[in-house]
Amino acid sequence: MIKIAPSILSADFAKLAEDIKEVERGGADYIHVDVMDGHFVPNITIGPLVVQSIRPVTDLPLDVHLMIENPDLYIEAFAKAGADIISVHAEACPHLHRTIHLIKEHGVKPGVVINPATPVSAIEPIIKDVSLVLLMTVNPGFGGQSFIESVLPKITEVKNLADKLNLSLDIEVDGGVNPETAKLCVEAGANVLVAGSAIYNQADRGEAIKAIRGE
Ligand code: DX5
Ligand code: ZN
Repeated sequence: MIKIAPSILSADFAKLAEDIKEVERGGADYIHVDVMDGHFVPNITIGPLVVQSIRPVTDLPLDVHLMIENPDLYIEAFAKAGADIISVHAEACPHLHRTIHLIKEHGVKPGVVINPATPVSAIEPIIKDVSLVLLMTVNPGFGGQSFIESVLPKITEVKNLADKLNLSLDIEVDGGVNPETAKLCVEAGANVLVAGSAIYNQADRGEAIKAIRGE
């Protein structure tokens, strides 16, 4: 079963509630929330206050992708704001094991993210402790970038590792996902597809979700 996680980064922030409800009606499985701090990535987006505001708007799990330095300092705030999944970048966490367990201690599902140039070996020691592995298929920071095909073998690597260890985790991809690249990601082993511009730049968001799911 393929899950679709629309990224609200490409939504209209002036009518965020409406844009979230529209993708929920359109069959979305998660709402993907991109948090950027202007340090780890060259862009600034939203924080826990926005997560708190959108929490009552949808029944879907909030999939919070932290692209920030020192994520340990903000995990409690995002958990209290209503995040269901909090994913942190391996590149931003010198004490990754501690950070993942801090997320769990707050009753939130932990995810770990790697950038296109980071090898799967960076997350191998922690894979048993996470609910989700997110493979970036663009360099994080902005919506609307082109899919980096060289990440595809890493998706398969994570899938094989998860199968070998008998883990039932989500394997998510993020960046440049459209109906064509979605197919490649699913064939490689991904089961959660994040899409921002390919959903929110379309007039009919429900149809866009179906197309990405391959229906
Ligand atoms: C990129 C973000 C993505 C982004 C995806 O840094 O993590 O979630 O919004 O946008 P598209 O689907 O337009 O590449
Ligand atoms: Zn993201």
